[in-house]
Amino acid sequence: MTGQSICFLNGEFLPLEEAKVPVLDRGFIFGDGIYEVIPVFNGHAFRLDEHLQRLLNSLKATHIRNPLTQSDWTNLVNDTIKKNGLGHQAIYLQITRGVAHRDHVFPDDAEPTVFIMSNGLSETQTAHAVSAITLQDPRWNSCDIKAISLLPNVLLRQQAREQGAYEAILIRDGFITEGAASNVFVIKNGVIKTPPKGSKILPGVTRDLVLELLSKNALSCEEVEISEAELHAADEIWLTSSTKEIVPVTELDGKPVGTGELGTLWNKSTELYQAFKDTFTGTEAT
Ligand code: PDD
Repeated sequence: MTGQSICFLNGEFLPLEEAKVPVLDRGFIFGDGIYEVIPVFNGHAFRLDEHLQRLLNSLKATHIRNPLTQSDWTNLVNDTIKKNGLGHQAIYLQITRGVAHRDHVFPDDAEPTVFIMSNGLSETQTAHAVSAITLQDPRWNSCDIKAISLLPNVLLRQQAREQGAYEAILIRDGFITEGAASNVFVIKNGVIKTPPKGSKILPGVTRDLVLELLSKNALSCEEVEISEAELHAADEIWLTSSTKEIVPVTELDGKPVGTGELGTLWNKSTELYQAFKDTFTGTEAT
């Protein structure tokens, strides 16, 4: 990314520092909004259709009016990428229910607030083994909505950080849900598992791509409930997200995961992911 960061707010592009939202915006007052984070490589938005589909699902689930058409969203994301110098970026897109006097009940006439900004993204995120801790998952039962109200996730991630760990892996009723900002894969004796989609996890775009790449390469992955005991007995644990890709966890709750080294299946899955990315992002967009 070069130069000044340019964002989009309610119909216009402007420098990020100049963008202002009224204090009565329901995003500010209630956390009443949804968002997406879309990685960009060589100027190309990666898995854009999948991110926009999840955006539509989140809008539908929250009854926030979709203010734009699918092609408008695509153009807007691509224009933001261009205005920020192509290359590698992470596009952050947020829609709130808009500005209205404070009342929990939906306003009749508010216009949704649309905000898009570009953040930095390093070219390759691979090979950084991390540590994680397990924490109880205190969140609601609509974690499939990519809501901006992230206070539980923020507190959990901070707790992990204060205990010297990179991520918190969350446990609900004895079973893994996801990370505070990632999905989780668990590998034992060559069998790869990840928790099923549903109201307890965000349906990660990276998660879906990893599943697709594994199955195309005869490395199937089971979408099943995974107990806390299975997590602790794992040979490998991976975290996935759009900005971090596939991150190997080599220490859990202060103990090594498997041998404590990078796993062979992590190597393989990362190779597949990078190869897929290369075919997609080979040439710089113009
Ligand atoms: N978060 N689960 C949660 C709770 C997340 O916040 C994220 C990503 C994921 C992974 O989803 P995806 O593969 O589509 O990025 C799973 C983003 C990156 C964020 O909030 O910054």
